[in-house]
Amino acid sequence: MAKLFEPFQLKSLSLRNRVVMSPMCMYSVWAEDGRLNDFHVTHLVSRAVGGAGLVMVEMTDVDPDGRITVRDSGIWDDRHQGALAAIGEQVHHYGAAFGVQIAHAGRKAQSESLSPVGPSAIPFSDRYRVPHALTTDEVRQMVDRFRAGAARAVAAGVDVIELHGAHGYLVHQFMSRVSNQRDDVYGEPTQFGREVIGAMRSAMPVGMPLFMRVSGTEHSPLGYGLDDLVTMARVFQAAGVDLFDVSSGGNLPVSVAEFPGYQVPYAEAVGRSTRAPVMAVGCLDDYALAESVVAEGRANLVAIGRGMLRDPYWANSAALALGEHTLLPAQYHRAIPMDRR
Ligand SMILES: Cc1cc2nc3c(=O)[nH]c(=O)nc-3n(C[C@H](O)[C@H](O)[C@H](O)COP(=O)(O)O)c2cc1C
Repeated sequence: MAKLFEPFQLKSLSLRNRVVMSPMCMYSVWAEDGRLNDFHVTHLVSRAVGGAGLVMVEMTDVDPDGRITVRDSGIWDDRHQGALAAIGEQVHHYGAAFGVQIAHAGRKAQSESLSPVGPSAIPFSDRYRVPHALTTDEVRQMVDRFRAGAARAVAAGVDVIELHGAHGYLVHQFMSRVSNQRDDVYGEPTQFGREVIGAMRSAMPVGMPLFMRVSGTEHSPLGYGLDDLVTMARVFQAAGVDLFDVSSGGNLPVSVAEFPGYQVPYAEAVGRSTRAPVMAVGCLDDYALAESVVAEGRANLVAIGRGMLRDPYWANSAALALGEHTLLPAQYHRAIPMDRR
């Protein structure tokens, strides 16, 4: 049996396999009210039909101003729960687990009508606006927004929540001296993240795992490196993170050469040091490569982004290519080669 298709259990979360649909902003909330719509139903449920073990909803923001664009998903209001719950129900129906990535864009809010905020009044680049530096009180209120967002996600029936601490969004902004030059208690790089994790945990059932996406390195001598990140990950783990989803970059406008598996060493390092399970992501859509990452114990889960945009059935395609019995729903079994039925 391919290791990629072995089940995975973490606390109350049961996955049928190790394939995760990576969170991806679709910029398709046409009503600009944060509410997921018919597009998201088809988009997310089709990846459950396509065999993914876990379907993770795109970056979903705890504050209207915490969006990148006005067409992003939101969880700042109870009105957001219904659509999320309806999608989750269908995702479950097709055998996948359902999660949501909770976030705040901070200084990376781009739509003209949104007001960017950040740890300090430092813009991401000269093409971005200067963010309002949050006061100490405003940071405390922000922590509470993450708690409320997590509570709404739980009420909507998710199996897992991922905190977005990567790609230069608000939690990451606090972790880096590039964007955080505060002189209050939140100048310490892990303080905000720790409080957010504690607040989210307080709104989640004890058995529900909390994932955290982190950037393993900032790809610049100006920012933090892998060793610093590993130290911060240990702190976040002690605060309540159960699994790290390890990506990289996003907090400085630098371009990074991507190649198959280029971020796997970061996931491995975090896993080795924290002994927490890890998810690898980034150019892993070659089936044999994805299988080897799990089989060699380099990561517990593999997240697929663009590969699943190209092929909603990526998990099924991988299963067939790796000689597995297929995951196709019963209605489609005539499509399975005879010797695999
Ligand atoms: C259209 C698009 C939207 C994305 N939005 C998010 C997001 O909401 N949250 C996040 O953590 N990563 C986001 N990402 C990054 C992906 O989750 C993933 O980490 C990245 O694409 C690398 O994986 P891949 O090579 O399999 O695509 C996005 C990527 C794409 C292509």
